[in-house]
Amino acid sequence: MSLKRQLKAILKNWVFRLTITVVIIMALATILPEKVKKMENNSVETKEHVFLLILIMTGPKNSDRRQAMRETWLQNTNEDVKHYFVIGTNGLTSEIHNELSNEQKLYQDLLLFGQFEDGYAKLTEKLGLMLEWAHEIMKFKFMLKVDDDTFVRLDRILDDLKNDVDKYQPQYLYWGYFYGRSHVKQSGPWKEVNWKLCDYYLPYARGGGYVLSYNIVQYIAKNWRLFEQYLSEDVTLGAWVAPLKLTRLHDIRFDTEYKTRGCKNSFIVCHKQSIRDMKEKHRSLKETGNLCEKETNIFYGYNYNWSVPPSKCCLRSQSIP
Ligand SMILES: *[C@@H]1O[C@H](CO)[C@@H](O)[C@H](O)[C@H]1NC(C)=O
Ligand SMILES: *[C@@H]1O[C@H](CO)[C@@H](O)[C@H](O)[C@H]1NC(C)=O
Repeated sequence: MSLKRQLKAILKNWVFRLTITVVIIMALATILPEKVKKMENNSVETKEHVFLLILIMTGPKNSDRRQAMRETWLQNTNEDVKHYFVIGTNGLTSEIHNELSNEQKLYQDLLLFGQFEDGYAKLTEKLGLMLEWAHEIMKFKFMLKVDDDTFVRLDRILDDLKNDVDKYQPQYLYWGYFYGRSHVKQSGPWKEVNWKLCDYYLPYARGGGYVLSYNIVQYIAKNWRLFEQYLSEDVTLGAWVAPLKLTRLHDIRFDTEYKTRGCKNSFIVCHKQSIRDMKEKHRSLKETGNLCEKETNIFYGYNYNWSVPPSKCCLRSQSIP
C-alpha cells in the first residue's frame, strides 16, 4: 500500500469515528435532559442540606410544648440546623386539623403524616416513617431525635460534632445514654409480645434524645419495613442497628432516664422537662451562661461498661451525678 493510500484509509477511519461520536452526542443530548429531570427528586443536589437535622416526636395536641421549645432552645438554631415536629394526622377532628394548619402556616416546622394515626403504641412505626422521610427529602450529616419534653444544649452538641471529629464522626455514630439490662416486659402497658430474642433487650440509647449519623438513618430508611417492630421506639432502634459496625457512644451528659437525675451544668440533653423547666433553663443560660439556676442531684447515673455482659453494664456511681 502506498503511503498516500494508507493516509487516506486512516483519514476515512477517523472521519467515520468522528461521525459516529457526533451522532451519539446528539442522541444523548436529546435523551439526557429527560433522564436528568426524572432523577431530579432523588438526587442529592435537589435535597435541602443541613449539618444537623432535629426530629421531634410530638402529639397533635401538644402545641404548648412545641411553642415552649420554639421559644427556648430552638432559638439557637442556625443555617446548619433544621428542626421538624413529627405528627400523625390521620383520624384527627377537623378542629385539631385546623389548629395544626394554622400552626404550620406560622412556623413551617411541622412534619405531618396524613396516613398515620398518632398514638402511644405506634411510636416505632412513627420512627420508621420519619427516618424514611428524612432520607428521601433531606441531606444531613447527623440526626438528633428528641421528644417534646426534651431540652437540648444545641451549642454544645454542634461543638462536639464539628470539632472532635475523631470521636464524633465515625462512619456510623449512635450517641446517647445507653442501657443494656432492660428486662422484656411481660405485663402492663409496655407488655411486649413481639420480642423473642432473649431475656433482655439489646443495648439501646434511651429515647429522650439520641444522635445518629446519616449512614444509620439511610440503613434504617431502606430496611425498616422488613424489621420486627417492638413497642418502645428506643428499644427497637437498638435492635435494628444491632448488627451494624457502629460506634456506640455512651454520654453521661444525657439526662434521659425514666425521670430526670436533676440538673447539672454539664448536661447537654435533658428529658422529662416541663414547660416551666425549659423556660427556666433557657433564662438561666441567657443570664448566667449556666444551664441550672442551682445544680441538683436526685439520683446517680452510670458509665456504660462495654467489656462486661449487658446485664452488668450499668452500675450507678456517686461520681456520676
Ligand atoms: C418532584 O417532587 C415535586 C414535589 O414533591 C413534584 O411536584 C414534582 O412533580 C417532582 N418532579 C419529578 C420530575 O418527579
Ligand atoms: C468494666 O468491668 C471490668 C470487669 O469488672 C472492670 O475491670 C473494668 O474496670 C470496668 N471498666 C469500666 C470503665 O468501668
